Amino acid sequence: MHPRGDDPPKPPRQEKETIQGPHVELRDISKSFGGTRALEGVSLTVGRGAIHALVGENGAGKSTLGKIIAGAHTPDHGQLLLDGETVHLHSPRDAIARGVILIAQELAIVPSLTVEQNVFLGVEPRRAGFQNRRELRRKYRDLAASVGFELDGDANAGSLRTADQQKVEILRALCRSAQLIVMDEPTASLSRPDVEALHKVIRQLAKNGTTVVLVSHFLNEVLELADEVTILRDGRLVQTVPAARQTEESLMAAMLGRSLDKAFPAKRPAPAGAPVVLAVRGLTAPGVSDVSFELRAGEILGLAGLVGAGRTEVARAIYRANRVSAGTIAVAAGGTGTVAVTGGPRMAMRAGVAMIPESRKEQGLLLGRPVVENVSLSSLAAVSTAGLVRRGPERRTVREAMSRVDVRGGTPGQPASTLSGGNQQKLMFARSLLRDPRVLIADEPTRGVDVGAKRAIYELLTSLTDGGLGVLLISSDVEEILGLAHRVLVMRAGRVTAELTGDAMSEAAILAAAFGPRHDSASPRDPNSPRDPNSPRGSSASPSNSPPSPRDSAPPIPPGHEEVPE
Ligand SMILES: Nc1ncnc2c1ncn2[C@@H]1O[C@H](COP(=O)(O)OP(=O)(O)OP(=O)(O)O)[C@@H](O)[C@H]1O
Ligand SMILES: [Mg+2]
Repeated sequence: MHPRGDDPPKPPRQEKETIQGPHVELRDISKSFGGTRALEGVSLTVGRGAIHALVGENGAGKSTLGKIIAGAHTPDHGQLLLDGETVHLHSPRDAIARGVILIAQELAIVPSLTVEQNVFLGVEPRRAGFQNRRELRRKYRDLAASVGFELDGDANAGSLRTADQQKVEILRALCRSAQLIVMDEPTASLSRPDVEALHKVIRQLAKNGTTVVLVSHFLNEVLELADEVTILRDGRLVQTVPAARQTEESLMAAMLGRSLDKAFPAKRPAPAGAPVVLAVRGLTAPGVSDVSFELRAGEILGLAGLVGAGRTEVARAIYRANRVSAGTIAVAAGGTGTVAVTGGPRMAMRAGVAMIPESRKEQGLLLGRPVVENVSLSSLAAVSTAGLVRRGPERRTVREAMSRVDVRGGTPGQPASTLSGGNQQKLMFARSLLRDPRVLIADEPTRGVDVGAKRAIYELLTSLTDGGLGVLLISSDVEEILGLAHRVLVMRAGRVTAELTGDAMSEAAILAAAFGPRHDSASPRDPNSPRDPNSPRGSSASPSNSPPSPRDSAPPIPPGHEEVPE
């Protein structure tokens, strides 16, 4: 979960002694894609050993800038200097040869290979003289341990959850002993313990003289880590400022060009007497044991827990994307009737369940296909006549749905891949709304979405529930859950371990239930507090490769926390 709770007082930032002269310099860089100006006249200097953050709205040009530094895009205009020398990087390979590596926003895992093979791809130790698997294994273990990631090197990379794939990318960059790492939203899908582990790694890298360019929508993360922050807006550089003098509010105002209060839309009272729109009983499926709950019309039910606790698995089981071995799922069907969802996703959809999946790339978007197709994909029936898709209505409906969620930077005809990451996420949202569902399962719906657009999505969710939609909201962002949900279920190891309502809904209670007995409920509130050596750092790894820690201690039950019998 992200350390996005109450902002603790920041420790005084110490001047870095390790920053030594400019490492990267961009001079008057511009880049267009067709008619889209992604960057215009950007000049920027990043010191060696600095942590330099890039912030800005979705589509502001952050990833484009990162890719130019790492050789994945060539600028149309302007100069790139490394260590004071003008360079022309024609490919990521050129950049790697100069010690520059990109951890991209869209993860680039080779799904058919193992974790280990992915990490060492192209730099197998064989080249350095050793070839056996044992050597590779040992190197992998050392590397993973040095970062504090628990991730099975033998696992098939393609079958990993998004957060674990993100870790593979991070390990891959680390083993290449880069001098400069561009990290494009590296913590977007990590949960709290891994976020903290990665923060530690980033600090350590910088301390050892590695330069880090960090793209993030988590402004508190930026303030905590960065020495300097560059704010981009519509492809132009607004300003580069020392992080120490900024606040989340000041960064937001500079990003958006207006001020925005961070608050969530006012919560309507929980709809006590409203009809149940989704009833789940004894649901047992891969990663899910005996989960039961009801969701009412107009209710936002938060599903919290660590990555790997089974939240996505619950979503996928309800949507029938995963096999269900026991239990029932019933969706309200007008009047007092209900429909039992027994078939596959198609049936779930027809019954009125829509899902925004966790991974937009693997489970959602067809990146090569036009935007319009991606949005209308699951509701083609509504815009078809006798099986033929009527293009006019399709475009019109799609345009409406896109403007409802404020998708920017693209025409309906261009491929989805050309939209910025956050706008791709909004496409998924637009798609699920087209069907006018009764139940919306939103799995990390604001991942990679900028602060302004997040706010728009929150308002949209709230207004949809006013219209009677029931929302099951899965989020690793505790603040988001607390800000939106009427009620929270917390999962751990495939089960619901707590149900929190009213005053009992607090960050501490959610974390306590998420971490389970071994959790010290006081420490994670404050990301700056000294790290507890017994903290369950690895507990977010998937259950299969994370054996219970032998250090488990007595369970501290936080006040106001209602244990649900298991
Ligand atoms: N390959 C491409 N083809 C066409 N347009 C592109 C391409 N890549 C980026 N763009 C456009 O360039 C602009 C900047 O995109 P970029 O991905 O750099 O934004 P970003 O700041 O990283 O946004 P996000 O926070 O959503 O990741 C956007 O308008 C985007 O649609
Ligand atoms: Mg981006």
